Amino acid sequence: MESVIIDKFQSLRTPFYYYDTKLLDITLDTIKSCLDENMHVHYAVKANANAKVLRHISAAGLGADCVSGGEIQASLDAGFKADDIVFAGVGKSDWEIKLGLEAGIFCFNVESIPELEIINELATECGKVARVALRINPNVGAHTHANITTGLAENKFGIDMQDMQRVMRLASEMQNVELVGLHFHIGSQILEMNDFRALCLRINELQDNLEAEGFTGLANINVGGGLGVDYQAPEVNPIPNFKQYFDTYRKYLILRPGQQLHFELGRAVVAQCGSLISRVLYIKSNAIKNFLICDAGMTDLIRPALYDAYHKIENITPADDASDNMTVYDVVGPICESSDVFVKNYRMPQTHRGDLIAMRSAGAYGEIMASRYNCRLLPEGYVTEDFV
Ligand code: LLP
Repeated sequence: MESVIIDKFQSLRTPFYYYDTKLLDITLDTIKSCLDENMHVHYAVKANANAKVLRHISAAGLGADCVSGGEIQASLDAGFKADDIVFAGVGKSDWEIKLGLEAGIFCFNVESIPELEIINELATECGKVARVALRINPNVGAHTHANITTGLAENKFGIDMQDMQRVMRLASEMQNVELVGLHFHIGSQILEMNDFRALCLRINELQDNLEAEGFTGLANINVGGGLGVDYQAPEVNPIPNFKQYFDTYRKYLILRPGQQLHFELGRAVVAQCGSLISRVLYIKSNAIKNFLICDAGMTDLIRPALYDAYHKIENITPADDASDNMTVYDVVGPICESSDVFVKNYRMPQTHRGDLIAMRSAGAYGEIMASRYNCRLLPEGYVTEDFV
Protein backbone atom coordinates (compact mmCIF):
# COMPACT_ATOMS: atom_id res chain seq x y z
CA MET A 1 0.00 0.00 0.00
CA GLU A 2 1.39 3.40 -0.93
CA SER A 3 2.55 5.55 1.99
CA VAL A 4 0.73 8.66 0.70
CA ILE A 5 -2.51 6.71 0.98
CA ILE A 6 -1.65 5.36 4.43
CA ASP A 7 -1.01 8.99 5.53
CA LYS A 8 -4.52 9.88 4.46
CA PHE A 9 -5.96 6.94 6.40
CA GLN A 10 -4.94 8.60 9.66
CA SER A 11 -7.86 11.02 9.75
CA LEU A 12 -10.58 8.47 8.94
CA ARG A 13 -12.93 6.71 11.33
CA THR A 14 -11.79 3.12 11.73
CA PRO A 15 -12.49 0.39 10.89
CA PHE A 16 -13.06 0.90 7.17
CA TYR A 17 -12.54 -0.98 3.94
CA TYR A 18 -10.04 0.22 1.39
CA TYR A 19 -10.22 -1.00 -2.21
CA ASP A 20 -7.15 -0.64 -4.40
CA THR A 21 -8.97 0.11 -7.63
CA LYS A 22 -5.74 0.06 -9.65
CA LEU A 23 -5.44 -3.62 -8.77
CA LEU A 24 -9.14 -4.13 -9.42
CA ASP A 25 -8.82 -2.63 -12.89
CA ILE A 26 -5.78 -4.77 -13.71
CA THR A 27 -7.69 -7.82 -12.50
CA LEU A 28 -10.62 -6.91 -14.75
CA ASP A 29 -8.33 -6.39 -17.75
CA THR A 30 -6.73 -9.77 -17.09
CA ILE A 31 -10.12 -11.46 -17.05
CA LYS A 32 -11.14 -9.80 -20.30
CA SER A 33 -7.89 -10.78 -21.98
CA CYS A 34 -8.67 -14.46 -21.26
CA LEU A 35 -12.15 -14.57 -22.81
CA ASP A 36 -13.21 -15.79 -26.23
CA GLU A 37 -16.17 -14.19 -27.95
CA ASN A 38 -18.63 -16.78 -26.67
CA MET A 39 -17.48 -16.41 -23.04
CA HIS A 40 -19.22 -14.01 -20.66
CA VAL A 41 -18.44 -13.19 -17.05
CA HIS A 42 -21.26 -12.05 -14.77
CA TYR A 43 -19.68 -10.66 -11.61
CA ALA A 44 -21.26 -12.24 -8.50
CA VAL A 45 -22.52 -9.12 -6.75
CA LYS A 46 -22.90 -10.99 -3.47
CA ALA A 47 -19.11 -10.82 -3.06
CA ASN A 48 -19.09 -7.03 -2.83
CA ALA A 49 -21.83 -4.56 -3.68
CA ASN A 50 -19.99 -1.37 -2.75
CA ALA A 51 -21.29 1.14 -5.33
CA LYS A 52 -17.83 2.44 -6.24
CA VAL A 53 -16.48 -1.07 -6.72
CA LEU A 54 -19.52 -2.06 -8.80
CA ARG A 55 -18.96 0.93 -11.07
CA HIS A 56 -15.44 -0.22 -11.94
CA ILE A 57 -16.75 -3.67 -12.74
CA SER A 58 -19.66 -2.48 -14.87
CA ALA A 59 -17.36 -0.03 -16.68
CA ALA A 60 -15.15 -2.98 -17.62
CA GLY A 61 -18.15 -4.46 -19.39
CA LEU A 62 -18.83 -7.45 -17.16
CA GLY A 63 -22.37 -8.60 -16.50
CA ALA A 64 -23.86 -9.15 -13.04
CA ASP A 65 -24.95 -12.25 -11.18
CA CYS A 66 -27.59 -11.32 -8.61
CA VAL A 67 -29.35 -13.24 -5.85
CA SER A 68 -31.90 -10.68 -4.69
CA GLY A 69 -33.98 -7.74 -5.82
CA GLY A 70 -31.62 -5.51 -3.88
CA GLU A 71 -28.67 -6.78 -5.89
CA ILE A 72 -30.55 -6.32 -9.17
CA GLN A 73 -31.28 -2.72 -8.19
CA ALA A 74 -27.69 -2.08 -7.05
CA SER A 75 -26.42 -3.49 -10.36
CA LEU A 76 -28.77 -1.37 -12.47
CA ASP A 77 -27.81 1.71 -10.42
CA ALA A 78 -24.13 0.94 -11.02
CA GLY A 79 -24.64 0.84 -14.78
CA PHE A 80 -24.84 -2.88 -15.50
CA LYS A 81 -27.05 -3.54 -18.51
CA ALA A 82 -30.25 -5.41 -17.68
CA ASP A 83 -29.63 -7.93 -20.41
CA ASP A 84 -26.30 -8.85 -18.83
CA ILE A 85 -27.93 -9.67 -15.47
CA VAL A 86 -28.63 -13.21 -14.30
CA PHE A 87 -30.74 -13.82 -11.20
CA ALA A 88 -30.26 -16.92 -9.03
CA GLY A 89 -31.42 -18.05 -5.60
CA VAL A 90 -33.59 -20.80 -4.09
CA GLY A 91 -36.09 -18.36 -2.63
CA LYS A 92 -36.99 -15.57 -5.01
CA SER A 93 -39.87 -13.43 -3.71
CA ASP A 94 -42.66 -12.31 -6.03
CA TRP A 95 -41.54 -8.68 -5.98
CA GLU A 96 -38.01 -9.72 -6.88
CA ILE A 97 -39.22 -11.79 -9.81
CA LYS A 98 -41.38 -8.86 -10.97
CA LEU A 99 -38.43 -6.49 -10.71
CA GLY A 100 -36.38 -8.85 -12.89
CA LEU A 101 -39.22 -9.10 -15.42
CA GLU A 102 -39.81 -5.36 -15.57
CA ALA A 103 -36.10 -4.64 -15.94
CA GLY A 104 -35.80 -7.25 -18.68
CA ILE A 105 -32.91 -9.21 -17.18
CA PHE A 106 -31.08 -11.76 -19.29
CA CYS A 107 -32.14 -14.83 -17.37
CA PHE A 108 -33.60 -16.33 -14.19
CA ASN A 109 -31.60 -19.27 -12.86
CA VAL A 110 -34.46 -21.45 -11.64
CA GLU A 111 -33.96 -23.83 -8.75
CA SER A 112 -37.28 -25.71 -8.45
CA ILE A 113 -40.57 -26.56 -10.17
CA PRO A 114 -42.68 -24.40 -7.82
CA GLU A 115 -40.42 -21.45 -8.65
CA LEU A 116 -40.74 -22.12 -12.38
CA GLU A 117 -44.53 -22.13 -12.04
CA ILE A 118 -44.56 -18.82 -10.17
CA ILE A 119 -42.22 -17.20 -12.69
CA ASN A 120 -44.55 -18.32 -15.49
CA GLU A 121 -47.57 -16.99 -13.59
CA LEU A 122 -46.00 -13.60 -12.83
CA ALA A 123 -44.64 -13.27 -16.35
CA THR A 124 -48.16 -13.91 -17.67
CA GLU A 125 -49.51 -11.19 -15.35
CA CYS A 126 -46.88 -8.70 -16.58
CA GLY A 127 -47.32 -9.74 -20.21
CA LYS A 128 -43.69 -10.81 -20.49
CA VAL A 129 -41.78 -13.90 -21.41
CA ALA A 130 -39.18 -14.84 -18.79
CA ARG A 131 -35.94 -16.33 -20.03
CA VAL A 132 -34.93 -19.12 -17.66
CA ALA A 133 -32.00 -21.43 -17.16
CA LEU A 134 -32.41 -24.50 -14.97
CA ARG A 135 -29.95 -24.68 -12.12
CA ILE A 136 -28.92 -28.30 -12.05
CA ASN A 137 -27.28 -29.80 -9.00
CA PRO A 138 -24.39 -31.68 -10.65
CA ASN A 139 -23.49 -33.67 -7.52
CA VAL A 140 -19.84 -32.72 -7.96
CA GLY A 141 -17.88 -32.15 -4.76
CA ALA A 142 -15.37 -29.36 -4.44
CA HIS A 143 -12.34 -29.35 -2.19
CA THR A 144 -13.31 -26.37 -0.11
CA HIS A 145 -14.87 -25.48 3.24
CA ALA A 146 -18.04 -27.51 3.95
CA ASN A 147 -20.08 -24.32 4.45
CA ILE A 148 -19.36 -23.13 0.93
CA THR A 149 -19.74 -26.26 -1.18
CA THR A 150 -23.01 -26.17 -3.04
CA GLY A 151 -22.95 -28.80 -5.77
CA LEU A 152 -23.73 -31.90 -3.71
CA ALA A 153 -27.10 -33.67 -3.56
CA GLU A 154 -27.31 -32.90 0.16
CA ASN A 155 -27.25 -29.14 -0.51
CA LYS A 156 -30.45 -27.15 -0.91
CA PHE A 157 -29.39 -25.72 -4.27
CA GLY A 158 -30.61 -26.61 -7.72
CA ILE A 159 -32.72 -29.26 -9.38
CA ASP A 160 -31.71 -32.95 -9.17
CA MET A 161 -30.10 -34.31 -12.33
CA GLN A 162 -32.70 -37.10 -12.50
CA ASP A 163 -35.50 -34.51 -12.65
CA MET A 164 -33.85 -32.37 -15.29
CA GLN A 165 -35.66 -33.69 -18.35
CA ARG A 166 -39.03 -33.65 -16.65
CA VAL A 167 -38.53 -30.01 -15.67
CA MET A 168 -37.33 -29.13 -19.16
CA ARG A 169 -40.45 -30.69 -20.62
CA LEU A 170 -42.61 -28.75 -18.15
CA ALA A 171 -40.81 -25.50 -18.99
CA SER A 172 -41.25 -26.03 -22.72
CA GLU A 173 -45.00 -26.33 -22.22
CA MET A 174 -45.27 -23.03 -20.34
CA GLN A 175 -46.44 -20.05 -22.37
CA ASN A 176 -44.51 -17.32 -20.61
CA VAL A 177 -41.13 -18.86 -19.98
CA GLU A 178 -38.43 -19.54 -22.51
CA LEU A 179 -35.82 -22.12 -21.58
CA VAL A 180 -32.48 -20.69 -22.63
CA GLY A 181 -29.91 -22.76 -20.79
CA LEU A 182 -28.53 -24.75 -17.91
CA HIS A 183 -26.81 -23.37 -14.84
CA PHE A 184 -24.37 -24.99 -12.41
CA HIS A 185 -22.23 -23.93 -9.46
CA ILE A 186 -20.13 -26.29 -7.35
CA GLY A 187 -18.79 -24.09 -4.57
CA SER A 188 -16.43 -21.29 -3.69
CA GLN A 189 -12.72 -20.72 -2.97
CA ILE A 190 -11.79 -23.61 -5.26
CA LEU A 191 -8.11 -23.86 -6.20
CA GLU A 192 -8.13 -27.38 -7.65
CA MET A 193 -8.67 -27.13 -11.40
CA ASN A 194 -9.68 -30.80 -11.28
CA ASP A 195 -12.90 -29.80 -9.52
CA PHE A 196 -13.85 -27.58 -12.46
CA ARG A 197 -12.79 -30.36 -14.82
CA ALA A 198 -15.17 -32.72 -13.01
CA LEU A 199 -17.96 -30.22 -13.55
CA CYS A 200 -17.12 -30.04 -17.27
CA LEU A 201 -17.24 -33.80 -17.61
CA ARG A 202 -20.59 -33.92 -15.83
CA ILE A 203 -22.03 -31.23 -18.10
CA ASN A 204 -20.76 -33.12 -21.18
CA GLU A 205 -22.52 -36.24 -19.93
CA LEU A 206 -25.76 -34.34 -19.30
CA GLN A 207 -25.67 -32.67 -22.70
CA ASP A 208 -25.11 -36.06 -24.38
CA ASN A 209 -28.09 -37.51 -22.51
CA LEU A 210 -30.26 -34.57 -23.45
CA GLU A 211 -29.39 -34.88 -27.10
CA ALA A 212 -30.11 -38.60 -27.04
CA GLU A 213 -33.57 -37.71 -25.73
CA GLY A 214 -34.09 -35.20 -28.49
CA PHE A 215 -33.51 -32.01 -26.50
CA THR A 216 -31.39 -29.67 -28.58
CA GLY A 217 -30.91 -25.97 -29.02
CA LEU A 218 -29.91 -24.87 -25.51
CA ALA A 219 -28.23 -21.55 -26.15
CA ASN A 220 -26.37 -21.08 -22.86
CA ILE A 221 -24.30 -23.02 -20.37
CA ASN A 222 -23.57 -21.20 -17.12
CA VAL A 223 -20.89 -22.83 -14.98
CA GLY A 224 -21.17 -20.51 -11.96
CA GLY A 225 -18.15 -19.17 -10.15
CA GLY A 226 -15.88 -20.48 -7.44
CA LEU A 227 -12.31 -19.65 -8.45
CA GLY A 228 -10.31 -19.14 -5.26
CA VAL A 229 -7.59 -16.67 -4.31
CA ASP A 230 -4.31 -16.91 -2.40
CA TYR A 231 -5.13 -15.75 1.12
CA GLN A 232 -1.70 -16.83 2.39
CA ALA A 233 0.36 -14.66 0.05
CA PRO A 234 -1.75 -11.89 -1.48
CA GLU A 235 1.34 -9.86 -2.40
CA VAL A 236 2.78 -12.78 -4.39
CA ASN A 237 -0.49 -13.65 -6.12
CA PRO A 238 -2.59 -10.48 -6.25
CA ILE A 239 -4.26 -11.73 -9.43
CA PRO A 240 -5.71 -15.24 -9.55
CA ASN A 241 -4.66 -17.57 -12.34
CA PHE A 242 -7.55 -16.74 -14.66
CA LYS A 243 -5.84 -18.20 -17.68
CA GLN A 244 -5.57 -21.62 -16.09
CA TYR A 245 -9.20 -21.41 -14.96
CA PHE A 246 -10.68 -20.44 -18.32
CA ASP A 247 -8.36 -22.86 -20.14
CA THR A 248 -9.76 -25.69 -18.03
CA TYR A 249 -13.23 -24.97 -19.39
CA ARG A 250 -11.89 -24.45 -22.89
CA LYS A 251 -10.19 -27.81 -22.75
CA TYR A 252 -12.78 -30.02 -21.09
CA LEU A 253 -16.21 -28.54 -21.75
CA ILE A 254 -17.73 -29.59 -25.07
CA LEU A 255 -20.02 -26.82 -26.22
CA ARG A 256 -22.57 -27.26 -28.99
CA PRO A 257 -22.28 -24.99 -32.04
CA GLY A 258 -23.19 -21.44 -31.11
CA GLN A 259 -23.55 -22.21 -27.41
CA GLN A 260 -22.52 -19.35 -25.13
CA LEU A 261 -20.51 -20.01 -21.96
CA HIS A 262 -21.25 -17.95 -18.85
CA PHE A 263 -19.28 -17.58 -15.61
CA GLU A 264 -20.25 -16.05 -12.29
CA LEU A 265 -17.01 -15.07 -10.60
CA GLY A 266 -17.15 -13.13 -7.37
CA ARG A 267 -14.26 -13.68 -5.02
CA ALA A 268 -11.60 -13.91 -7.72
CA VAL A 269 -12.59 -10.48 -9.03
CA VAL A 270 -12.59 -8.48 -5.81
CA ALA A 271 -10.94 -10.33 -2.90
CA GLN A 272 -7.37 -9.20 -3.35
CA CYS A 273 -8.07 -5.52 -3.94
CA GLY A 274 -9.75 -5.03 -0.55
CA SER A 275 -8.30 -4.58 2.94
CA LEU A 276 -10.05 -3.97 6.21
CA ILE A 277 -8.17 -1.20 7.99
CA SER A 278 -8.42 -1.16 11.77
CA ARG A 279 -6.77 0.68 14.63
CA VAL A 280 -5.09 -1.11 17.49
CA LEU A 281 -6.83 -0.21 20.74
CA TYR A 282 -4.93 -2.20 23.36
CA ILE A 283 -2.23 -4.78 23.79
CA LYS A 284 -3.21 -6.94 26.70
CA SER A 285 -0.99 -9.72 28.01
CA ASN A 286 -1.51 -12.50 30.49
CA ALA A 287 0.63 -15.47 31.52
CA ILE A 288 0.15 -17.28 28.23
CA LYS A 289 -1.06 -14.82 25.63
CA ASN A 290 -0.63 -11.41 24.09
CA PHE A 291 -3.93 -10.10 22.80
CA LEU A 292 -3.90 -7.47 20.12
CA ILE A 293 -7.31 -5.86 20.55
CA CYS A 294 -8.33 -3.82 17.52
CA ASP A 295 -11.43 -1.79 16.73
CA ALA A 296 -12.59 -4.08 13.92
CA GLY A 297 -14.58 -7.11 14.91
CA MET A 298 -16.52 -10.00 13.48
CA THR A 299 -19.27 -7.52 12.65
CA ASP A 300 -16.92 -5.97 10.07
CA LEU A 301 -15.31 -9.17 8.75
CA ILE A 302 -17.09 -12.34 9.76
CA ARG A 303 -15.16 -14.83 7.63
CA PRO A 304 -12.67 -15.95 10.33
CA ALA A 305 -15.48 -16.53 12.86
CA LEU A 306 -17.81 -18.20 10.36
CA TYR A 307 -15.46 -20.28 8.22
CA ASP A 308 -12.17 -20.31 10.12
CA ALA A 309 -10.91 -18.19 7.26
CA TYR A 310 -7.41 -16.75 7.30
CA HIS A 311 -6.71 -13.13 6.40
CA LYS A 312 -3.13 -11.97 6.41
CA ILE A 313 -2.62 -9.12 8.86
CA GLU A 314 -0.06 -6.35 8.43
CA ASN A 315 0.89 -3.43 10.58
CA ILE A 316 0.81 -0.55 8.08
CA THR A 317 1.93 2.17 10.47
CA PRO A 318 5.55 2.97 9.69
CA ALA A 319 7.71 1.98 12.69
CA ASP A 320 9.64 4.89 14.36
CA ASP A 321 12.41 2.79 15.76
CA ALA A 322 12.79 0.51 12.75
CA SER A 323 13.00 -2.34 15.24
CA ASP A 324 11.52 -5.54 13.98
CA ASN A 325 10.88 -7.39 17.23
CA MET A 326 8.60 -10.21 16.31
CA THR A 327 5.83 -10.94 18.80
CA VAL A 328 3.06 -13.53 18.86
CA TYR A 329 -0.49 -12.23 19.21
CA ASP A 330 -4.06 -13.38 19.20
CA VAL A 331 -5.66 -10.65 17.11
CA VAL A 332 -9.16 -10.05 18.45
CA GLY A 333 -12.00 -7.58 18.09
CA PRO A 334 -14.20 -5.78 20.62
CA ILE A 335 -17.40 -7.82 20.16
CA CYS A 336 -18.87 -9.72 23.09
CA GLU A 337 -18.42 -13.18 21.53
CA SER A 338 -15.57 -15.62 22.06
CA SER A 339 -15.48 -16.27 18.34
CA ASP A 340 -14.55 -12.64 17.70
CA VAL A 341 -10.98 -13.65 16.87
CA PHE A 342 -9.26 -12.88 13.57
CA VAL A 343 -6.28 -15.13 14.09
CA LYS A 344 -4.55 -16.94 16.94
CA ASN A 345 -0.81 -17.19 17.68
CA TYR A 346 0.08 -14.81 14.89
CA ARG A 347 3.68 -13.68 14.53
CA MET A 348 4.06 -10.06 13.54
CA PRO A 349 6.32 -7.13 14.36
CA GLN A 350 5.66 -5.61 17.76
CA THR A 351 2.54 -3.50 17.58
CA HIS A 352 1.35 -0.58 19.68
CA ARG A 353 -1.84 1.23 20.59
CA GLY A 354 -2.79 3.56 17.77
CA ASP A 355 -1.14 1.58 14.99
CA LEU A 356 -3.16 0.84 11.89
CA ILE A 357 -3.38 -2.75 10.76
CA ALA A 358 -4.63 -4.10 7.43
CA MET A 359 -6.46 -7.38 7.07
CA ARG A 360 -5.69 -8.38 3.54
CA SER A 361 -7.71 -10.15 0.84
CA ALA A 362 -10.91 -8.83 2.39
CA GLY A 363 -12.53 -7.42 -0.74
CA ALA A 364 -14.86 -10.39 -1.16
CA TYR A 365 -17.53 -11.29 1.39
CA GLY A 366 -16.16 -8.67 3.79
CA GLU A 367 -17.97 -5.33 3.77
CA ILE A 368 -21.11 -6.89 2.35
CA MET A 369 -21.41 -9.36 5.23
CA ALA A 370 -20.98 -6.68 7.90
CA SER A 371 -23.69 -6.44 10.52
CA ARG A 372 -24.79 -3.96 13.15
CA TYR A 373 -24.56 -6.43 16.02
CA ASN A 374 -23.72 -4.64 19.28
CA CYS A 375 -25.21 -1.49 17.66
CA ARG A 376 -21.97 -0.93 15.85
CA LEU A 377 -21.66 1.40 12.88
CA LEU A 378 -21.19 -0.25 9.52
CA PRO A 379 -17.67 0.21 8.11
CA GLU A 380 -17.23 2.76 5.31
CA GLY A 381 -15.72 1.65 2.02
CA TYR A 382 -13.11 3.85 0.28
CA VAL A 383 -11.46 3.42 -3.09
CA THR A 384 -8.14 4.71 -4.43
CA GLU A 385 -9.86 7.67 -6.18
CA ASP A 386 -11.10 8.93 -2.81
CA PHE A 387 -7.52 9.79 -1.91
CA VAL A 388 -6.27 11.68 -4.95
N1 LLP B 1 -22.76 -18.29 -8.40
C1 LLP B 1 -23.48 -18.85 -7.42
C2 LLP B 1 -24.72 -19.55 -7.77
C3 LLP B 1 -23.05 -18.77 -6.08
O1 LLP B 1 -23.76 -19.32 -5.12
C4 LLP B 1 -21.84 -18.09 -5.78
C5 LLP B 1 -21.36 -17.95 -4.42
C6 LLP B 1 -21.12 -17.51 -6.85
C7 LLP B 1 -21.61 -17.65 -8.13
C8 LLP B 1 -19.83 -16.77 -6.64
O2 LLP B 1 -18.84 -17.60 -6.15
P1 LLP B 1 -17.32 -17.09 -6.03
O3 LLP B 1 -16.79 -16.91 -7.43
O4 LLP B 1 -17.31 -15.83 -5.25
O5 LLP B 1 -16.65 -18.20 -5.31
N2 LLP B 1 -19.41 -16.02 2.07
C9 LLP B 1 -18.53 -17.10 1.66
C10 LLP B 1 -18.71 -17.44 0.19
C11 LLP B 1 -20.13 -17.81 -0.18
C12 LLP B 1 -20.28 -18.07 -1.66
C13 LLP B 1 -21.70 -18.22 -2.02
N3 LLP B 1 -21.98 -18.42 -3.40
C14 LLP B 1 -17.11 -16.72 1.98
O6 LLP B 1 -16.90 -15.67 2.56
O7 LLP B 1 -16.18 -17.47 1.71
